[in-house]
Amino acid sequence: MSLHLGDIAPDFTADTTDGEISFHAWKKGSWAVFFSHPADFTPVCTTELGRTAALEGEFEKRNTKAMALSVDPIEDHHGWAPDIGEVAGTPLNFPIVADPDRTVAELYDMIHPGEGDTSTVRSVFVVDPENILRLTLTYPKSVGRNFDEIIRVIDALQATDRDPISTPVDWQPGERVIVSPAMSTEDATARFDNVVEIKPYLRYADAPSS
Ligand code: BEZ
Repeated sequence: MSLHLGDIAPDFTADTTDGEISFHAWKKGSWAVFFSHPADFTPVCTTELGRTAALEGEFEKRNTKAMALSVDPIEDHHGWAPDIGEVAGTPLNFPIVADPDRTVAELYDMIHPGEGDTSTVRSVFVVDPENILRLTLTYPKSVGRNFDEIIRVIDALQATDRDPISTPVDWQPGERVIVSPAMSTEDATARFDNVVEIKPYLRYADAPSS
C-alpha cells in the first residue's frame, strides 16, 4: 500500500515488547515516530534503537511517542533489548513491534524487494495527534538514520501548525522563519517581529515564541 502525506496512518494491532498494542489507541493525543529496521542483532539497527531510547526526554518534550518494527519474532526483540540498553546507556523505553507475518510492514510499504531480501528497510513515519501522516523518510539498510533530523522536522511541523509560517532550508528551532505567502506584509508585521521582505514572495520574520 502506498501512503501519502495527509493520509490517515493505518491503524493496526500487533504484538510488541510492551504487549499487544493498537496503534491509534496507543498514540491517542500524541505525535508518533513509527519506524522500521531490517533485523534484530544487527549493528546499525542497534545504534538506531539505542539513540531512540536515549532521546526519550526530547520526544516527551514534543508530546511524541516512538515505536519501532521489524519482521523478527517477539522472542528475538526481547533477547536483543538488553544490547540496545547497553549501547544507549538507557534501557529500551519504547515498544518494538514483532511482525513476522509482515502484515504491518506491508500495510506501511516497508518492504522494498530491491533492497536485498524481504526484511523491512529503514522507513520513518511521523504521525500527528489526529493520526495524519506528516512526514515519510526511507533509508537503505546500510545507512543509519539521523534522529536529530527527525526531531528537527517534528519541531518544524509543530511550529508551522501553530502559526502561518514555513521553515527555510536547514532551519533550526529559534531561527528566523518564512511568513506564509497567504498573509499580507501588513498583517505579518502586526503578528511577527522584524519582518523583512527579500522578495514579495519571500519574507522572513523572527520565530514566534511557542
Ligand atoms: C545493520 O543494522 O547493521 C544492517 C541490517 C541489515 C542490512 C545492513 C545493515
